[in-house]
Amino acid sequence: MDNLFEPKILTFLCNWCSYAGADLAGVSRFQYPPNIRVIRTMCSGRVDPTQVIEGLRSGFDSVFVFGCHFGDCHYLEGNYHTARRMQLVRQLLELAGIGPDRLQLRWVSAAEGQLFADYVTELTELTRELGPLRASRWQLPLAAVQRACNSPRLRWLLGMDRQLTEKQNVYEQRLDADAFQDLLRQCAKLEYQQALLVEALQDGPKTVRQMAALTGLPVYCVSLRLNDLERTGQADLLEYEGTSPKFRLMAA
Ligand code: FES
Repeated sequence: MDNLFEPKILTFLCNWCSYAGADLAGVSRFQYPPNIRVIRTMCSGRVDPTQVIEGLRSGFDSVFVFGCHFGDCHYLEGNYHTARRMQLVRQLLELAGIGPDRLQLRWVSAAEGQLFADYVTELTELTRELGPLRASRWQLPLAAVQRACNSPRLRWLLGMDRQLTEKQNVYEQRLDADAFQDLLRQCAKLEYQQALLVEALQDGPKTVRQMAALTGLPVYCVSLRLNDLERTGQADLLEYEGTSPKFRLMAA
């Protein structure tokens, strides 16, 4: 690891609790590393998963999101949405091979200036241990994670989480929370793999084998996901190169 490495960390603070906590840390002169670059949002629920990935793609080594404690959100349930969304982004980062620790979520109240300083110190140290992200090396997986974050299917599932697990669906059934998490994980995996192939095809048609080499996915998995993309009109078979089928993206 590079001893001189100073992490650059994008940090989202919600206006009502964590930003006030950071302010208190400042006026109380609690010490914490100067590596964070702060964006203030009205609620942590305003932080979109794509903004987290955009941060990593644009040169930050980690992203921290701070919000109010559960029950304290000024928009009632904003931080519950944050928790679910950020968990999904961490899963996608893990699938991409980048690892979930590049994104951290913590709750800090307006009265917890010392806790804010402690968290920033702890998480900056964690990023230092992870080392520089070097986003250019992760161009394809990061683009795929960002695309997967925009998937309507994943967004719908995330939005329905509490409805399906705490209330009922249209058949008056309630889903077990663990079963729902499994479903979300499976869906995240499929969406990530599809997104990876769409990104791989952005600069022109490729054979199944070329895509497998580029993405690191097994050939059979590339074939399955290409079937999905064909079925939904996102890709089609162009020709055969030897025995390997060559696919192209359909115009959006
Ligand atoms: Fe702080 Fe919603 S206002 S998390």
